This record gives sequence, structure tokens and C-alpha cells, in this order.
Amino acid sequence: MNVLKLTPYILLLLLFFFSCLATSLQVCTKAVCGMGEPEIRFPFVVKNGRQSKSCGYPGFGVSCDTRSQTVLNLPNSGDFTVQAIDYGTQEVWINDPNNCLPQRILSLNLSGSPFYGAFNQDFTFFNCTLGYFRQRLKPITCLSGSTYTIYATASFVVASYLSSKCNSLGTFPVPVQWPLYENLPSSDLSDNLRLTWDMPTCGRCESMGGRCGWRSNSSREIVCSSLPSRGIPRTARYAVAVGVGAPAVLCFLGLLCCIFGRVKSIARNRPRPISDFSSSVAPQPTFVVGLDGPTIESYPKMVLGESRRLPKPDDVTCSICLSEYRPKDTLKTIPHCRHCFHADCIDGWLRLNATCPICRKSPQPSTPPDV
Ligand SMILES: *[C@@H]1O[C@H](CO)[C@@H](O)[C@H](O)[C@H]1NC(C)=O
Ligand SMILES: *[C@@H]1O[C@H](CO)[C@@H](O)[C@H](O)[C@H]1NC(C)=O
Ligand SMILES: *[C@@H]1O[C@H](CO)[C@@H](O)[C@H](O)[C@H]1NC(C)=O
Ligand SMILES: [Zn+2]
Ligand SMILES: [Zn+2]
Repeated sequence: MNVLKLTPYILLLLLFFFSCLATSLQVCTKAVCGMGEPEIRFPFVVKNGRQSKSCGYPGFGVSCDTRSQTVLNLPNSGDFTVQAIDYGTQEVWINDPNNCLPQRILSLNLSGSPFYGAFNQDFTFFNCTLGYFRQRLKPITCLSGSTYTIYATASFVVASYLSSKCNSLGTFPVPVQWPLYENLPSSDLSDNLRLTWDMPTCGRCESMGGRCGWRSNSSREIVCSSLPSRGIPRTARYAVAVGVGAPAVLCFLGLLCCIFGRVKSIARNRPRPISDFSSSVAPQPTFVVGLDGPTIESYPKMVLGESRRLPKPDDVTCSICLSEYRPKDTLKTIPHCRHCFHADCIDGWLRLNATCPICRKSPQPSTPPDV
């Protein structure tokens, strides 16, 4: 009797559920160009066929080259390989597909792209006819010839010394990974460049485990979805959301109290409304003595290039997981002692301990790093 009465409403509910799925979800899958390559998802999009072009944000198109590398084309500077993408901090690390990054730096122009350098450091390039300085300065071998050597330096002292001996090729801003090079007499500038972007602002959503994307194919509004909510799978959550919404409408239509109890029990499992995601930061339990998230996040990160050169050349393994660093590993340094670790390893450590695992120095969370 009761069930018979409800049948049209259940049908209506199912219809509503499927039409919701069909109209409001644009299916944008993630993609990778090859093994070990960064995952491509919103705002980035693979242009050559694998993903619908409408899944990306303007200026974030990448392509996969014949060597399965991820390639980003910058409007005024040409193609770069994408070494890593951090969707949470909105950063991308790029390098030169032909392994001569300094050459590309000489003509780097980021205008017309959504990207800019997080740290820009001015390097002066010199063309020296003799190899005099090769003992003490690191030459840029890919730009040097048999009769001349090219150097780049960010040090004012070295620059003023070289300017009396060599031809200056000019000073160029370099979007370095972190501004530590003032301590080095010169650099061969083979490390990845680190770029960041402001729009679209999906970092907060991503770092909370959510996924950003267009609300639908037709509306150009960006929403944060798939926030993890206590293990309920994505499709189930849509069912729950619809299941809560539709019975509420039915209640208004006159089917009263008997359903109401059930709705309340479902409502307890309902994911937090998406508009709330910016304000919902879990409070830290007081007994944890590690550093807070923003402090850990503020520590300099770098993605290793093919040369695997580290700020401290003697560190070749991560002393937390004891594995050797490999190209494209993301490292993080503690600014106060400059010890390096895998970013994931040190993040986990610092959440529980407020000291460096190597030297046991305690970074002071209250003082800004590197001052
Ligand atoms: C970069 O390219 C834009 C557009 O071509 C141009 O207007 C601008 O002057 C260039 N900037 C530099 C520093 O060359
Ligand atoms: C450096 O100078 C030499 C001659 O002194 C010249 O042949 C060479 O092209 C220059 N290299 C660059 C990159 O300017
Ligand atoms: C989204 O819209 C574009 C054109 O604006 C169209 O080419 C594409 O097929 C649409 N995708 C879906 C999933 O409807
Ligand atoms: Zn590690
Ligand atoms: Zn240390």
C-alpha cells in the first residue's frame, strides 16, 4: 500500500538523479605522457587528443612528445619539458628538451603565459676567451666553445671581477628554484626553472585533497569537488547528495514524517558543502609537538634535474628513507641548517617533530626563514 503510493516519486527521484549526473558532470580524466611523467589534470590539459580541450584552463595546454615527455609551450619562448607539477602550491618545474637551459634563459620571456618566476634572481653572463677560471668557476659547457668559455654568476663580487676580464653578455632574470645561489661564485644553470601561477586558484582545494575543474562544459565557473569525506566513494556521495535533496522536496510536497526520520540519518553522512572548503582546516591536537602546516609549506622545495645537483653536494641520499635521490625527485630543505630530504619524507617528520632529523636543530616557527 505505502510502497505503491511512493513508486511515482521513486521514479521521479531516479530520473532526477540520472539527469543530474548527465548535465552537471563534465568527465575530465587525468592523463600522463609516460612513465615517471607528471600527472596532467586541471588546469593543465593534454592538447593532442587524450583529453577534451575544454577540460583545461587557457594557457595550460601541454603535449606529449615522441619521447613520451610532457612538453609545455610558452608563447614567447617555445617548448620546455615539464619536470614536475605541484597542484597544491601551484608550481611547475620546467627544463630544456635539448639540455641547454642557459641558452633558453637568454631568450626567456614569460609574457603571454599564465606563469611567472616564484624567485627571480639576476644572473650576469660572461664570455671569456680563455679558460682561466675553470678551476674555480663552473662553466656553462653547452654554450662554450674550444676558444671561449661562458659563465653565469649571481654574485656581485664575481661579476665585477669578470667584467674586467671578459665580455659581458648581459644580465637576465632567472626563475630559480630557490634563492641560494648568491653563495655560489657561478652556476651552470642546468637546474629546473620553477614557475608559479595565480589563476586559476585551485591550490587550497588541491592541498585539501579536492579536485578543481569547470562546473560544467557550458558554464565557465570553477568548482572544487571530490573532497575526501570519510571514505564514501565519489558516486555514492552524489547519490547521498541527491538522496538528501530530493526527499526534502518530497517532504514539501506533502509526504511527511515517515520519510523524515530516514532523511535525517542519511543527512548525517552528507559531505560538507563545497563552499565550506576554505574555512574547514582541521584543528591540530595540542599534544603534537611538530611544526604547523603553513611553516612546513613555506620551506623551499626543489625538483632535481638530470644532474641531480643538490645545494650540498655531499647529500646524495635522503636520511629519512635512506634511498638515493633520483632525477625528478622533489626535495625540501630546512632553511635554518639547509639539510635536504624528500619533500614527502620531511613533511611527515616535521608534522611530528620540530627538529631537523640530521642536526637536531630546531627551526623556530615564529621567525621567518632565511632572515
Ligand atoms: C616579451 O614578449 C612581448 C610580446 O612579444 C614583448 O612585448 C615584450 O617586450 C617582451 N619582453 C622582453 C623582456 O623581451
Ligand atoms: C664568445 O666570444 C667568441 C669570440 O671572442 C665568439 O666567437 C663567440 O661566439 C662568443 N660566444 C657567445 C655565446 O657570445
Ligand atoms: C564541450 O564543449 C565543446 C565545445 O565548446 C565540445 O567540443 C565538447 O565536445 C563538449 N564536451 C562534452 C563532454 O560535452
Ligand atoms: Zn626520503
Ligand atoms: Zn639540519
